Amino acid sequence: MSTTDETATAAASGAAATERFHHDKSPYDAVRDTPKERVDLLAREVLSAIHDTIRRHQVTYDEYNALKAWLIQVGEDGEWPLFLDVWVEHVVEDVATADRQGSKGSIEGPYYVPNAPERGADADLPMRDGEAGTPLLWEGSITSVDGTPLAGTVELWHADADGYYSQFAPGIPEWNLRGSFTTGPDGKFRIRTIQPAPYQIPTDGACGKLIAAAGWHAWRPAHLHVKVSAPGHQELIAQLYFPGDPHNDDDIANAVKPELILAPVGQDDGSARIDYGFALDRQED
Ligand code: DHB
Ligand code: FE
Repeated sequence: MSTTDETATAAASGAAATERFHHDKSPYDAVRDTPKERVDLLAREVLSAIHDTIRRHQVTYDEYNALKAWLIQVGEDGEWPLFLDVWVEHVVEDVATADRQGSKGSIEGPYYVPNAPERGADADLPMRDGEAGTPLLWEGSITSVDGTPLAGTVELWHADADGYYSQFAPGIPEWNLRGSFTTGPDGKFRIRTIQPAPYQIPTDGACGKLIAAAGWHAWRPAHLHVKVSAPGHQELIAQLYFPGDPHNDDDIANAVKPELILAPVGQDDGSARIDYGFALDRQED
């Protein structure tokens, strides 16, 4: 249901994702005090893993040059955010959240944009008139791990029924299917949106070239992205999935966990109701 004849391309969505990443505060700030010893250890181990692969599989000069050309293309296509968030971020997320007691999280991915329109605790996600897709009514609450309701915020963003994200594909209103919902002291929220489509990562750029050359597929299951926060608690970044999606078991980004699969209940009017809330861990001091 594109509103223009422009099509989404890897170069355009990659450039937007790269620009978005540069927009945030410098990622270097948080690691200013990392000791040389740790940088040395991590860099040496990564390089050593590459060296081992070359020796074990007798990588040729032709293959080395193809790799070099491909790595250059990843940068030219702006696809480093996409590449890293699809094939690396899920392990970082696992490590970062291993000690949590509350709700499970998942990767953020490349398409979050801060400062989405604020909508209160009971509202529609911004969408076009007649936005395609099964209407969803989602009710839930934010609590701490002990069940205490929390006044907090659910930021929600997701693809449309064609699998496209606003601000990363052309012809979609700026804040389409992006919003921020702030709960009162009872922690409750009620959000109306539509069910997104499964999402195929762009296939016409460097990442698509790897996928084709390796005989992989490019699909992520349909998903809702959330960032949930409340004062004194750890921010939760998660994705929620729909039962029966063929890609829940072979997500290219490896970001599905059983706890993140919703149980929508079909309603007589063709819409679906979801009941899903979030328990946040306390902030560590
Ligand atoms: C990518 C896209 C997503 O929508 C997502 O959730 C994770 C990764 C990507 O294209 O890299
Ligand atoms: Fe996504």
